Amino acid sequence: MSQQIDHFEFVPQMSAIAREAGALLMDYFRARVKIEYKGDADLVTEADRSSERLILERIQAQWPSHDVIGEEGARIERGGDYRWYIDPLDGTTNFAHGFPVFCVSLGLAFQGERKAAVVYDPTRDELFAAERGRGAVLNGERIAVSKTPKLVQSLIGTGFPSHKRHKNPNIYFYHQITLRSHGVRRAGSAALDLTSVAAGRLDGFWEFNLNAWDTAAGILIVEEAGGKVTGVDGHALAITDRDVVATNGFIHSEILHEFQEVFAGRGLEPLPDPREYRK
Ligand code: IPD
Ligand code: CA
Ligand code: CA
Repeated sequence: MSQQIDHFEFVPQMSAIAREAGALLMDYFRARVKIEYKGDADLVTEADRSSERLILERIQAQWPSHDVIGEEGARIERGGDYRWYIDPLDGTTNFAHGFPVFCVSLGLAFQGERKAAVVYDPTRDELFAAERGRGAVLNGERIAVSKTPKLVQSLIGTGFPSHKRHKNPNIYFYHQITLRSHGVRRAGSAALDLTSVAAGRLDGFWEFNLNAWDTAAGILIVEEAGGKVTGVDGHALAITDRDVVATNGFIHSEILHEFQEVFAGRGLEPLPDPREYRK
């Protein structure tokens, strides 16, 4: 590992925890775990739960006074200054089907502000990390967002909720942004989508209705890599805000403008009729 991460305060210990949880996930992944359901199409596995148990134990041992919110139910809420947002397995649907795109996401907030972040992808052994004001790294090397100037030249990412998909408008946005860019990828892990923006692999990402455990780490990594993250109307994001637009900064106002157009129903390219298409 390069020396560039020496100046981080929390990242070294967070990285060790994320790597340990990632190794545990890989053991389950190779063995193919049983799928269980939290809701209609909302999957969970033993891997999600044991990863969260491990992370919680490590945090409690090292930072006993910190609060913790974990997707699989971890709740330590004493109203302290430090609060962790943990997604022990982001990309559960991929994981459960044997599709190798998933990660561990650990975000640490101080007085409600994102302070430190680690996202670890154990399938590629890629560890993304950042601390506020101290930059973002991938496996210890500095990363930066892309310089793509226009939406039309951009590769964008998005995601769809696991449950209540019928109540989510994203398919319309997916359609319209696909026609105005080089394409829209839907890889299935919001935390990795955000780190892809940070590393310049995607020029932008948006998703509606995410949770703080999906975004707390990834948003800080994008910002520290020089990117911009707001809500769909451009407001600064509180840690619990659920709609996220993250870009390299250059295409930000353009993509927000496109969202306003879609919300207003203006300039929508119609969906082709499949019966016409077959003729
Ligand atoms: C999901 C993933 C997915 C996103 C969903 C999330 P999970 O998290 O991040 O990419 O589209 O909105 O719920 O359930 O795999 O931790
Ligand atoms: Ca998640
Ligand atoms: Ca999860």
